[in-house]
Amino acid sequence: MKTLKPTHISVLSQELIEGLSLTEGDVVLDATINGGGHSLEVSSAIGKDGTIIGIDLDSDALKEAKDRLKGVDPRVFFKEGNYRDFVQILDSINIPCFDKAIFDLGMSSRQLDVAGRGFSFRSDEPLIMTYSKNPPKDALTARDIVNTWDEENIAAILKWYGGERYAKRIAHSIVTNRKERAIETTKDLVDIIEEATPSSIKRSRIHPATKTFQALRVTVNDEIEGLRETLTKIPNRITPGGRIAVISFQSSEDRVVKHIFREWKKDRLGTPLTKKPMVPSRKESESNPRSRSAKLRIFHFKKDI
Ligand SMILES: C[S@@+](CC[C@H](N)C(=O)[O-])C[C@H]1O[C@@H](n2cnc3c(N)ncnc32)[C@H](O)[C@@H]1O
Repeated sequence: MKTLKPTHISVLSQELIEGLSLTEGDVVLDATINGGGHSLEVSSAIGKDGTIIGIDLDSDALKEAKDRLKGVDPRVFFKEGNYRDFVQILDSINIPCFDKAIFDLGMSSRQLDVAGRGFSFRSDEPLIMTYSKNPPKDALTARDIVNTWDEENIAAILKWYGGERYAKRIAHSIVTNRKERAIETTKDLVDIIEEATPSSIKRSRIHPATKTFQALRVTVNDEIEGLRETLTKIPNRITPGGRIAVISFQSSEDRVVKHIFREWKKDRLGTPLTKKPMVPSRKESESNPRSRSAKLRIFHFKKDI
């Protein structure tokens, strides 16, 4: 099998594959397939009778996944779209349900490093931040938020989705600066954030723009509501005895997953297999620093749901 050098290193792969207890012939929904790293591992476990349905909003990611998974044994469907629409996507290919599901949330390293859509505060790019390369004309962008939202709303998302301690100061600085000229690029925004944060923060290991950028990305892609809405539909389409694995990278996402798994347990749909989320080993965090904040939760549905 041809293996291409990945632009994104999959996280918690071994834990994910073991936790899903994959068997030959499984139908697997990879809701965030990206370059296909996890799916490649899945493919050897489910064999020629298995099926993978890979979804991603990013067409470049799907192209990479197609190359990477060329020649694997299972049948693979690549679908450009939002995982929020997974029911329609399954219906479009006449697959009523799946045995296992993977949600590996957020952005990929390729999006951060080379997509040019404003995910990185380390390069100078237009402030877009949509996962989709070709979003609809009226799609919300990070540029819209920083140039048109009022100060209170900007401060609120920085606090909620970024956990930014200086949310109010940064929001005030954004609104003051945009009166002079529009905030167009990541560099414009980073300068404003740096001006608004105390110098002790500027010396810390974490870049002062980290939390603001996270909050904007989460808001642009409506990630928290999208995740909640999607997870609530999973029990209708998962096979009895099925499993779902979710990898999150920030506390607002992990809270949603934890809460929904708890609801499913209360409704006697099954059991969470991870009382506490699994996190990367020291070895993995050292070899792939971007994995550091990852948290994996797995839920096992009962055979008689
Ligand atoms: C962390 S990467 C997944 C990595 C993948 N598991 C692997 O091993 O290569 C997250 C991917 O999810 C995609 N994504 C994020 N939100 C999405 C959504 N709502 N619907 C579909 N894809 C989404 C991003 O475009 C990105 O490619």
